[in-house]
Amino acid sequence: MAQKLVVGNWKLNGELAANEALLGAIGAVAGVEVAVCVPFPYLAQAAARLRGVAPGAQTVSEFQSGAYTGEVSAEMLADLGCRYVIVGHSERRALFGEDDATVGRKTAAALRAGLAPIVCVGESLAEREAGRALEVVERQLGAVLAIIGARMLARLAVAYEPVWAIGAGRAAGVEEIRRMHAGIRRWLGERDAAAASVRVLYGGSVKADNATALFAAPGVDGGLIGGASLVADDFMSICRAAAVANGA
Ligand code: PGA
Repeated sequence: MAQKLVVGNWKLNGELAANEALLGAIGAVAGVEVAVCVPFPYLAQAAARLRGVAPGAQTVSEFQSGAYTGEVSAEMLADLGCRYVIVGHSERRALFGEDDATVGRKTAAALRAGLAPIVCVGESLAEREAGRALEVVERQLGAVLAIIGARMLARLAVAYEPVWAIGAGRAAGVEEIRRMHAGIRRWLGERDAAAASVRVLYGGSVKADNATALFAAPGVDGGLIGGASLVADDFMSICRAAAVANGA
């Protein structure tokens, strides 16, 4: 089994001086791959400051170059030393009009530039209560598949982030997560055998005090961490919890 992957998502937070301290306190953890996805303006700072931890971005343009004012291409991210990029985060979908097909095109753009896309999927509370959680996630993955093709699926990481657990202070239950991750892995493996070993991360209120239990759940290959990634001690505890779950 691949190493667990723990990814910090700073969202719209940061400031040069404070970043110095936070980035300086984030270090490599044996047996775990660690990445930190910062706002675009701080990517160069993160790339220069981080040691043994991969810098990442939180979104990317679907376009490569040209008359697209305000956009940032995957090639630019790669140029800055970025390794990972989050695509399709539920906040992008809900607040910035990114539909399933846009997420697919952004994923393709990231792959084109040699970045590792972390594709976020997840259902709303209403969708879960209607018993449609897996169907929604499969639809979101299907839109990505339609654009990148089955053979590229193995290059992704998938982050299962139930919308109702993000920033909520309460993570999804271990059994809910186990079932969804199993469903995602089955779906991937049915499309391409190599895709069955894609890392499926869990995100949504992962904290220092629940990370050990969440990472021990079957099929959880790491986490996407929002709020707790802004506190160095908490983020490092979460990374260490992943190492323990890895058996490192
Ligand atoms: P949270 O955010 O850890 O603050 O719930 C997770 C995410 O949005 O990726």
